[in-house]
Amino acid sequence: MAVTLAFDVYGTLIDTHGVVTRLQQLVGDKASDFSRTWRDKQLEYSFRRGLMQNYENFAVCTSNALDYTCSYHRAPLTEGQKEDLLGVYRVLPAFDDVADGLAQLEASDYRLYAFSNGSADAVEALLSAAGVRDSFIGVVSTDDLRSFKPNPAVYSHFLRQSGATGSSAWLVSSNPFDVIGAISAGMRAAWVRRSPEAIFDPWGVEPTITVESLRGLSERIAGYRPGVEA
Ligand code: LAC
Repeated sequence: MAVTLAFDVYGTLIDTHGVVTRLQQLVGDKASDFSRTWRDKQLEYSFRRGLMQNYENFAVCTSNALDYTCSYHRAPLTEGQKEDLLGVYRVLPAFDDVADGLAQLEASDYRLYAFSNGSADAVEALLSAAGVRDSFIGVVSTDDLRSFKPNPAVYSHFLRQSGATGSSAWLVSSNPFDVIGAISAGMRAAWVRRSPEAIFDPWGVEPTITVESLRGLSERIAGYRPGVEA
């Protein structure tokens, strides 16, 4: 059976720090820190909503996190400025290696899906704007279950939706929490470590493989033999 790949979207295909240029116009030197706090809080809110079973979709987590970040960094943006930032967030760019990496994988007959906390509509629009939507058979969203990664149920949902089995399905993600979530749910997982500064959580659960970019991922997965590479 062809190998199925579930691509995480925010932070893996799409660069969430692509808002920095716009942020520089609004908050100056604080832009990079602001962007990091925003992203960290967005994920924290998704984790908490998942645990509390108090679901609101990922766009709400993003918007609530933006409000928090404005308070935290003492950057009182107007509602119009926040709307503008959320608009930029809906059309963030893909990372530089994404188009090449996806083309190599398509040429090697992998079955490619996007698999995200983002709602299907938001992810469809984001991938279309970034020019990579056509590489994917489909978009699977955790929104279908009104939950978020790393709830094990969302990885099972992906397997059901894509018709794959755990050992023939890989998650591809830059987010360590996602990699650990997928492996714990019985999938394989490639950690995309674009920066040498990225740290993997020391939980004793390792990625099946680690790559520095999506270029060459195709060969690395094809060459993977269980037990040979940690
Ligand atoms: C996603 C989050 C994890 O796209 O960034 O699922």
